[in-house]
Amino acid sequence: MAADRNGGTAVCPGSYDPITYGHLDIIARTAEVFENVIVGVVNMPVRKQKTVFGIEERVAFIEEHVAEYGNVQVKPFDTLLVDFAREHGAKAIVKGLRAISDFEYEFEMNQLNRKMAPDIESIYMMSAPQYSFLRSSGVKELAMFGGDISGLVPDRVAARLQEELKR
Ligand code: PNS
Repeated sequence: MAADRNGGTAVCPGSYDPITYGHLDIIARTAEVFENVIVGVVNMPVRKQKTVFGIEERVAFIEEHVAEYGNVQVKPFDTLLVDFAREHGAKAIVKGLRAISDFEYEFEMNQLNRKMAPDIESIYMMSAPQYSFLRSSGVKELAMFGGDISGLVPDRVAARLQEELKR
């Protein structure tokens, strides 16, 4: 463990459909602060919104980019987020906040998660300014209409997204 990292494990949860540079920035910054980071990828086919990418591919896209950190693991989960965090001994859930528009949803999630697991703290990291507009759904919409998504998601993700959305 780097001498200046806090002990303990944090979970960075999300659907990551697909991972963006904004997500990767939050994960990298979390890995600077915590000893261990687990990127929790939601695997819930029953959820209302169907994902473009299956769970294996969403996990693989992330693994490719976090391997260099040495203290980040990527794991799918299909339980309540707080149960997943507990199962891995995490003391914190770390999420990115882009704009005020994120606040209302995150505030609600925070209250629900706190009620179920007051021992697990949710911590919010402000997005870097260059990613403050970036969300997976926006990237998918751009890709669907032929927009340029380079610089928003890793190249391999961009190529696969264009392939999938052509169908
Ligand atoms: O916006 P996302 O990426 O789909 O968010 C996923 C996640 C897990 C971060 C969000 O749904 C959340 O905070 N959920 C807490 C409630 C919970 O445990 N739901 C079951 C897993 S989706």
